[in-house]
Amino acid sequence: MTTLRLEGKVAIVTGAASGIGEAAARLFAANGATVVVADIQDRLGHEVVASIGPDKSIYVHCDVTDEEQVKAAVDHAVSAYGRLDIMYSNAGVLGSPFAGILDLDKQEMDRVMAVNVTGTAVAIKHAARAMVARGVRGSIVCTASVAAHQGGHGPAAYVASKHAVLGLVRAAAGELGQHGIRVNCVSPYGVATPMSSAASGLASEAVEGMFCAVANLKGVALRAGHVAEAALFLASEEAAYVSGHDLVVDGGNTAVYSALAQLMSSAGFNKSR
Ligand SMILES: NC(=O)c1ccc[n+]([C@@H]2O[C@H](COP(=O)([O-])OP(=O)(O)OC[C@H]3O[C@@H](n4cnc5c(N)ncnc54)[C@H](O)[C@@H]3O)[C@@H](O)[C@H]2O)c1
Repeated sequence: MTTLRLEGKVAIVTGAASGIGEAAARLFAANGATVVVADIQDRLGHEVVASIGPDKSIYVHCDVTDEEQVKAAVDHAVSAYGRLDIMYSNAGVLGSPFAGILDLDKQEMDRVMAVNVTGTAVAIKHAARAMVARGVRGSIVCTASVAAHQGGHGPAAYVASKHAVLGLVRAAAGELGQHGIRVNCVSPYGVATPMSSAASGLASEAVEGMFCAVANLKGVALRAGHVAEAALFLASEEAAYVSGHDLVVDGGNTAVYSALAQLMSSAGFNKSR
């Protein structure tokens, strides 16, 4: 018998029309949750709902840079389903992929911060308000990134924004613990999604190959579904005492300094085994 890990729960997933958010929306629904698919890509969002099943999901247009739209998505979940148990704040943008700090475009940086940071902050705010008002001991999960831990995983604005997401998660976990609300994030390494394909101009197989070539963990490619599984754990009661945590899904990349090992390997130092 399969256990439905989110049975009876109501979840919002932002950025759920594509990539990691789409995989999470499908996985949450498969685990018994009713899922509000929130995004700005209406056609794709409706397609996700049609394939999950309209009895288990609903699409809401929600631009996370507009606080009123975030509040409306939360209100919609509560009025349609009576409560909100899970907010997965996942919507994010990379920004201009090749914009180095020397050529920083302030408007572009403002846009990245508006989606990734302020969008996450208002998602936490309105989800938490709905949970506190109904005495729901909910779970809020955000998508940060390995770029929350190291430079070099994207343009400066993106790296700064993901460090800020981790800060928001820790701050919110501190404030909301008294209400029994847990706040955590997942930090994926590179995944081939429309975001990374568009940034590189490469097909998804080539993007995945590129990430695999410099990955620490070999023999497996990180997929959106792996990240969704980590988000599911944090959303579920299995993580009942986990809060303020960043679940890094990177095959050890941020834990290991690989440049020296690669240099030694190419110089033939570790050929014995
Ligand atoms: N793909 C990667 O390599 C990778 C690695 C680490 C972290 N992430 C993070 O994962 C999250 C999901 O990205 P993805 O790779 O699945 O990309 P994606 O482009 O496939 O999905 C992102 C989704 O967010 C939506 N979105 C963008 N701006 C929005 C807004 N203002 N309001 C609401 N929705 C908006 C998009 O329409 C899209 O559906 C992002 O936060 C991203 O920073 C991605």
